[in-house]
Amino acid sequence: MTSPVIAFKQECQANIAKMTEDEKVQKLSREWICESAKYKYSYNLSWMGRPIIQYPQDIIAMQEILWQVKPDLIIETGIAHGGSLIFSASMLELIGGDGQVLGIDIDIREHNRAEIEKHPMFRRITMVEGSSVDENIAAQVFDFAKRKKNILVCLDSCTPTSMC
Ligand SMILES: C[S@@+](CC[C@H](N)C(=O)[O-])C[C@H]1O[C@@H](n2cnc3c(N)ncnc32)[C@H](O)[C@@H]1O
Repeated sequence: MTSPVIAFKQECQANIAKMTEDEKVQKLSREWICESAKYKYSYNLSWMGRPIIQYPQDIIAMQEILWQVKPDLIIETGIAHGGSLIFSASMLELIGGDGQVLGIDIDIREHNRAEIEKHPMFRRITMVEGSSVDENIAAQVFDFAKRKKNILVCLDSCTPTSMC
């Protein structure tokens, strides 16, 4: 007999599969993203006091991935105000162990750097300023990561062309 834990998981997966086939839900989702983007909706959220430029769904999805993967290093391109770095560091704090976050941004604004550096989660964070596609920056990242075993990379330094 299927355990209730597995049955619940299967029910959710079946619902997700059905929803991905539902064109009305897709259209409404796209419309909502496009309409809310006019007001820079994703800029309105924060994580532990720092602005995080993410949609709530994506934050939850990252939480699910991080809990599953339990990385010992998270490499993130695109720091901005630091919210996603703080989020990743806080997840590593909850997971336990000594996981670290390495953030890379082409332009770390002084006021953002200061706020990130005084945050309680900063003890798990290292920041590098430079382009994520610069070979020297890539070499620094390789060096930082060389003793890590389970690395998760999150690329958020590219502004996508509009889907709206
Ligand atoms: C959408 S924001 C990042 C948001 C952040 N991850 C968060 O969730 O709060 C994109 C950032 O990418 C940075 N960026 C743009 N081009 C870059 C590059 N070539 N290398 C590194 N960072 C870059 C920008 O300076 C900006 O701060």
